[in-house]
Amino acid sequence: MTQDRAAVMPLVNLHQYESAAAERLPRMVFDYYAGGAGDELLLRTSRAAWDGIAIRYRVLRDVSRRSHRIELLGHALDWPVLVAPMAFQQLAHADGELATARAADATGTGFILSTLATRSIESVRAATGGPLWFQLYIYRDRGLTEALVRRAEQAGCTALVLTVDAPMLGRRERDLLNGFHVPAETPIPNVGAAPRDVLAERVETASSLAAFTERHWDASISWADLDWLGSLTRMPILVKGIVRGDDAVRALQHGASGVIVSNHGGRQLDTAIPTARALGDVADAMAGGGALLVDGGIRRGTDVVKALALGAQAVLLGRPVLWGLAVDGAAGAQRVLQLLKEECDLALALAGCRTPAEATRDLLAP
Ligand code: FNR
Ligand code: LAC
Repeated sequence: MTQDRAAVMPLVNLHQYESAAAERLPRMVFDYYAGGAGDELLLRTSRAAWDGIAIRYRVLRDVSRRSHRIELLGHALDWPVLVAPMAFQQLAHADGELATARAADATGTGFILSTLATRSIESVRAATGGPLWFQLYIYRDRGLTEALVRRAEQAGCTALVLTVDAPMLGRRERDLLNGFHVPAETPIPNVGAAPRDVLAERVETASSLAAFTERHWDASISWADLDWLGSLTRMPILVKGIVRGDDAVRALQHGASGVIVSNHGGRQLDTAIPTARALGDVADAMAGGGALLVDGGIRRGTDVVKALALGAQAVLLGRPVLWGLAVDGAAGAQRVLQLLKEECDLALALAGCRTPAEATRDLLAP
């Protein structure tokens, strides 16, 4: 019955996809995807921070011809939104990351594959021709970490995204209450067998992901590990999870090609600074010295315009892609991306911008 309802109800924005996905997904999965850390205050403040920025649009600019193409780390993208790395996508749909990667390619953009994907790096690379980047978590086992990096490079991934806001997993109470785990039949092909087993264990009022990260991720990671990664690979490295200008500058000093301003979608440190508030300072500190991306609560074309105006070259879209995937596989994820792409086009035009580069800081009210 829920299937029929979504089939007849047209979904015209990203928020509606969330409601439709909530009707379809098992509670444990929906809560894992949707949830945040602690009191989930950052989930709300992240959205509110984008909403609270007003656009001082320009008029009479002949916006009849527009292009949203951007160049990012050597890739030409049709528009400035990529798919964020997100774990365990087969929990949303049987095609998992293959579907999401195809959806990104079909809308002319790139896909970032999580270390905790349910499809192998090689199979995702084979499924699409679009830009594919690999997101890395550093394991205590540096041999496993190094092997992953080499595999990603060999498979044809063209950038490495090092996530640095999760030396330990945030306290996600929905997952504790649901006994979150990843059923043993769900493949997690890019990690070894021992880590896989931990994820399958269901324990009352505990999260298997928290147990897994505590056992296998390395809370001791530091700037020296960024140097080490740089010595392993020729792929450009983006550091994801930065919210301060000084950390962004440090990342560049340690060889990163850019940073992603992110607080992990509110899943790590609750009450952290919303990315809409952090982005401007980071852009100023970097002064164009590297690629600058942002994510967290972006749901509207107007949010993308604001991110560009604050200094980002592109943004990452997270949860709504999973909602699309849950509703209708690759087609659903593609529709979510297409909706945002159309909203971006309209918002840029109404703001008086013919290209993303024309979205500059003066577009925002002080
Ligand atoms: C994530 N995120 C994430 N980040 C990362 O670097 N590696 C990962 O494996 C994951 N996994 C993951 C799973 C799920 C279910 C979610 C929702 C998020 C964080 C993600 O890349 C991104 O930073 C946020 O999701 C962006 O915020 P929005 O767009 O979801 O609000
Ligand atoms: C998450 C991890 C896996 O946010 O990044 O769930």
